[in-house]
Amino acid sequence: MQPSHFIHLEEKYGAHNYHPLPVVISSAKGCEMWDVEGKKYFDFLSGYSAVNQGHCHPKIINALVEQASLLTLTSRAFYNDKLGIFEKYITELLGFDKMLPMNTGAEAVETAIKLARRWAYVKKGIEENKAKILVCAENFHGRTSTIVSFSTDPSSFNQFGPFMPGFEVIPYNNVHALQEKLKDQNIAAFLFEPIQGEAGIIMPDEGYLAQVRRLCTSDGVLMIADEIQTGLCRTGKMMACDHENIKPDLLLLGKALSGGTMPISAVLANDEVMLTIKPGEHGSTFGGNPLASVVAMASLKVLVEENMAANAEKMGRLFREKLHQLQSPFIREIRGKGLMNAIEIKHSNPEAAWKLCETFMQNGLLAKPTHGDKIRLTPPLVIHADQISEAIGIIQQSLPVLELL
Ligand SMILES: Cc1ncc(COP(=O)(O)O)c(C=O)c1O
Repeated sequence: MQPSHFIHLEEKYGAHNYHPLPVVISSAKGCEMWDVEGKKYFDFLSGYSAVNQGHCHPKIINALVEQASLLTLTSRAFYNDKLGIFEKYITELLGFDKMLPMNTGAEAVETAIKLARRWAYVKKGIEENKAKILVCAENFHGRTSTIVSFSTDPSSFNQFGPFMPGFEVIPYNNVHALQEKLKDQNIAAFLFEPIQGEAGIIMPDEGYLAQVRRLCTSDGVLMIADEIQTGLCRTGKMMACDHENIKPDLLLLGKALSGGTMPISAVLANDEVMLTIKPGEHGSTFGGNPLASVVAMASLKVLVEENMAANAEKMGRLFREKLHQLQSPFIREIRGKGLMNAIEIKHSNPEAAWKLCETFMQNGLLAKPTHGDKIRLTPPLVIHADQISEAIGIIQQSLPVLELL
């Protein structure tokens, strides 16, 4: 079948809520994907960092297949013999008292918002319905109606109102702004991304995370780190917060928690926060199902046992070094940490980054622009030096297209 057949089906029968590159993938392994005509590509998106462990990692797939034929879902109406084992593993690995399992990243964020508000009323003593949560400009935390209520990106919130109250936006990477806002006694929590992913890999100054930790502690406000994109070895450490040796009060995980096989997310917190929600007050039919529990545990073990943080750190350095060697007047900036990187394009044509990604595609590499001029380059963490060199070759070969626009 021609790619156009599948593209036509999606266009005709699917909602138009995405703008995909015109490539139709039918299989993938490690860092590589193949389209329906057998052409090979490097995957430099990794399902928006869900496939950190590489496509179809055998240990994750084996765990999934084995458990799928045994037991997939009980709902939380009953206990199952896998969830507790997973909860013990993840809480010990990441150093929290408890974990609350959900499915998508957005659900983990919603859960954290509810936990923070509940904690604010029950523990901090804020008057009911007065709790506020601070968030950052240019944030991306998902697509639910509550979450888009505090987005600063019009394409996320335009004509989706009325919006959920109780959020205040401050500039990212601005300790002073945070300090000022924290004077308000009704602040329950500060929700942030350690590196802003969708905004185009926006990195805070060194020391920002540690300052946030210090201020949240001294003002009695919960620090909520959304590590849905930055976590699970993507930036060269298990968590991006580990770069500054700090631990948030609530840690949000998703995406690579399943190695890209199914939607699994989690909120981690200590008892003082987690136990403020009582039976019947929050949940999800699929959250904590035995299939997800087994898959998530296998996905975490692969990250740890195969030293993926170290590889992300090493390959990330090599990748940025080689990117810097590419001489192009059209690259404004190269930035990133570990294997979470981006190039920002400087061009008079607003379509330049998209055209460059189309050329990458023709030459065998898949990546997608975010916010117009930034191209996120986030391959699976199993990539090795030869593949980095090959990918750089493709990028170099593609850049001249910018001269023609
Ligand atoms: C930082 C961050 N938080 C939350 C989400 C939402 O996750 P999901 O798409 O699984 O709902 C994303 C998705 O890109 C994200 O990058």
